[in-house]
Amino acid sequence: MRTDTPQIIQLSDYQAPAYWVDTTQLTVSIFAEYTEVKAELRLRANDRYTTLQPIVLHGVGLDLKSLALNGQTVPDYEIVGEELRLPAPAEGEFTLHTVVHIYPTTNTSLEGLYVSGGMYCTQCEAEGFRKITYFPDRPDVLSVFTTRIEAPKEFATLLSNGNPIAAGELADDRHFAEWHDPFPKPAYLFALVAGDLKDVRDEFVTMSGRTIDLRIYVEPHNLHKTEFALESLKKSMVWDEQVYGREYDLDIFMIVAVDHFNMGAMENKGLNIFNSACVLADLETTTDDGFERIEAIVAHEYFHNWSGNRVTCRDWFQLSLKEGFTVFRDAEFTADTHARAVKRMDDVTLLRTSQFAEDAGPMAHPIRPDSYIEINNFYTLTVYEKGAEVVRMLHTLLGAERFRAASDLYFERFDGQAVTTEDFVNCMAEVSGIDLSQFQRWYDQAGTPRLAVTGNYDGAAQTFTLQFSQSCPATPGQPNKAPFHIPVKLGLVGKNSGSDLTFSTRHPGFDSELQVFSLRERDDTLVLEGVSEDAVPSLLRDFSAPVILEYPYTVEDLRRLVSSDSNAFNRWDAMQTLATRTLLAAVQEQAEHGDLQAVLTDAMRDVLQDADLDPAVKARLLRLPGQAYMAEQYKPVDPVALDQVHTALRRHLGQALQAEWIAVFEQTQPSGTYAFEHHQVARRALHSVALSYRIMADQNAWRLAAEMYRAADNMTDQSAALQLWGQVANEEWDNAMAAFYQRWHKDAQMAEQWLSIRASAPRVRVREVELLTEHDGFSWTNPNRVRSVIGGFAMRNPVGFHADNGAGYRFLADSIIRLNSLNPQIAARLCTPFTYWRRYTPEIQAAMQAQLKRILDVETLSKDVYEVVSKSLDTSLA
Ligand code: TRP
Ligand code: ZN
Repeated sequence: MRTDTPQIIQLSDYQAPAYWVDTTQLTVSIFAEYTEVKAELRLRANDRYTTLQPIVLHGVGLDLKSLALNGQTVPDYEIVGEELRLPAPAEGEFTLHTVVHIYPTTNTSLEGLYVSGGMYCTQCEAEGFRKITYFPDRPDVLSVFTTRIEAPKEFATLLSNGNPIAAGELADDRHFAEWHDPFPKPAYLFALVAGDLKDVRDEFVTMSGRTIDLRIYVEPHNLHKTEFALESLKKSMVWDEQVYGREYDLDIFMIVAVDHFNMGAMENKGLNIFNSACVLADLETTTDDGFERIEAIVAHEYFHNWSGNRVTCRDWFQLSLKEGFTVFRDAEFTADTHARAVKRMDDVTLLRTSQFAEDAGPMAHPIRPDSYIEINNFYTLTVYEKGAEVVRMLHTLLGAERFRAASDLYFERFDGQAVTTEDFVNCMAEVSGIDLSQFQRWYDQAGTPRLAVTGNYDGAAQTFTLQFSQSCPATPGQPNKAPFHIPVKLGLVGKNSGSDLTFSTRHPGFDSELQVFSLRERDDTLVLEGVSEDAVPSLLRDFSAPVILEYPYTVEDLRRLVSSDSNAFNRWDAMQTLATRTLLAAVQEQAEHGDLQAVLTDAMRDVLQDADLDPAVKARLLRLPGQAYMAEQYKPVDPVALDQVHTALRRHLGQALQAEWIAVFEQTQPSGTYAFEHHQVARRALHSVALSYRIMADQNAWRLAAEMYRAADNMTDQSAALQLWGQVANEEWDNAMAAFYQRWHKDAQMAEQWLSIRASAPRVRVREVELLTEHDGFSWTNPNRVRSVIGGFAMRNPVGFHADNGAGYRFLADSIIRLNSLNPQIAARLCTPFTYWRRYTPEIQAAMQAQLKRILDVETLSKDVYEVVSKSLDTSLA
């Protein structure tokens, strides 16, 4: 047990900084044993304070060698926790000089300056800069940085933010480079790289005719994996100019790939640093999903240059200001580049499966949290994905044109500033004239709202009346919720005609141009007039709000929507509802199960036989909701029983529609050379879905997967086939896996893929996963490997994880305890499966709780893990 209780940081305690740092000059000198960081900071008192305040700088693990204010040593400084405190100075403007030594080679937290595969690199968001030098490490202190790097010549590439201004030789086989970034930025956007790297180069001509130098830096053996990211970058630059009018600002834009990285990528000004897995790609080893993910992350980090860097966050509670907005921007980029409805289905699946779970669990928090212990724990699906949904709702309420005008105003008004989510919403309100004061609750209230709707057709009056009622469950610290402003995009699908019906309404909350109803009350009634026939309402089109919809649809209504809704997203959604009901009825052994299963089977048959449907949409219509999603729909959950029910339904569908699956499987056989291109991607997705059902129907069909694996000329088919084959896990699969490893293990991304396929294969149990942690390909200090193995097992292998009487839980807890001292951020993220212990049967609850208590007993528990575990165990939340 920790002897202290970590401090809770509160939004309400925010105070403006006492000093600005106008300029920052750093000299970072790399030596084998240590790195020396010299800093010269020009400080200036913030004039909102009438008297000069004490000076507070942040620092963690710094070996302080000297400290001077205006050239004078400061005898009376204090170091308290992460703060270096100096008494108030004599004058409001002064220079601070510090020299510290740091030890990057032993830094396994991957925060601050660390070494990955021989390359020095930094990660400063959120509070990593304090591990490099003493500084007011808070996002509202913006400074102009000049950085000099000195290193042995074996580190041939020396990079930092901004533009290169000087380079040259030094004594002792050393050299230096200097970089200057003219844009004031907070310390979290600082970056530095020193390594033996190769780069590919290109150019981009901006809308105003400036030529930008583009570079991707990698270790030499990865040079052949850079082209796709470079193309993605250029596409992103064009898109941001066309859709947002945003032009790149520096003369050079660099991306660096590193193997050891805590998250996906980081938007450091002019010098984005990427997890290798999120940038390196080639036609041989990258899957369709991989290409799409890389393209989206390259876009995401590039878009941050405006939504995040030029306009940044006042404090870390405002994180969604940059992340929600930037996820919305990258999602729209992907939708414009590929298939809009498909992207929406995939994003909503993630939101419903994982973000809704977070919102219903002990870590639930609003997209703008009001307190935290460790900010790293708040880079969540809620802040990112729900945050993006909240921005999307603004887009839905304003329409594309007014949204663009509001975004122009936001960027113009706040350029170079650190601002709040209110500032963002106020721009939306100002431009549109819409009163968004109630809408602000989306930023303050946690939990997924429920929207209950009923509908009634009056043939004589030709009216269709919709009754809305919203509620939101209690979440930690928020027992009661005020009503939200919910945009409900809707239509009516004629029960006979199957087409969209026209209507009018006198309700002032309905925007008839956008077809969006603004629900603001807890309960409200919307009367639609001039409705020519009875209808099935199609509600929340395109998922216009992140809520759980409850409408008493009959199975006939759902089938009507699946077959005829003009909104492609809602067709898919109706199928999801039908499948969810079927699975629920099976799990809960309800009498309707047989009927539901028959209706679902018919609906799927229609989809299978529909020649006009985009195969990408078809693939998604035919996939059942996942087990993780189902585990959120009832209580208590026995995951092994759920797996049986889920498998049984897939088997039933596989058998009942066997001829159809065979036909689709044959129609979607690969042809031509592989390309990452919509028609092919769609065809491959559908081919794999068809094969998965064939395997369910016929135990021997694993041979088809083996055949597909051997015949495939691309990794999408190979890895899909290996995973499907792995459901049967026979000796042939083991042999194929061994050969795959031999063939590919020198490629880091492939080794990670292999580890993940193994750890998440449904027949793989805890004993094998323990052995996997002793495998050559595994490393406790490489987050990608940890995520592949420990994450793959605990989050993507429900049967393996929950079987064996809690052995899986013990293994996860052991892993968390081990990682706690190596890399607290990663350790805390692996706690996620335990946070949901309250969902399960009493035996599982007890076993998981016991492991949580074991973790809490660790004396040196990090703030990161402490926060997640203590909140998970908090009995006041039960
Ligand atoms: N800001 C980054 C993004 O969303 C993510 C990020 C935050 C991050 N903290 C990090 C990445 C720590 C790596 C390590 O684009
Ligand atoms: Zn981001």
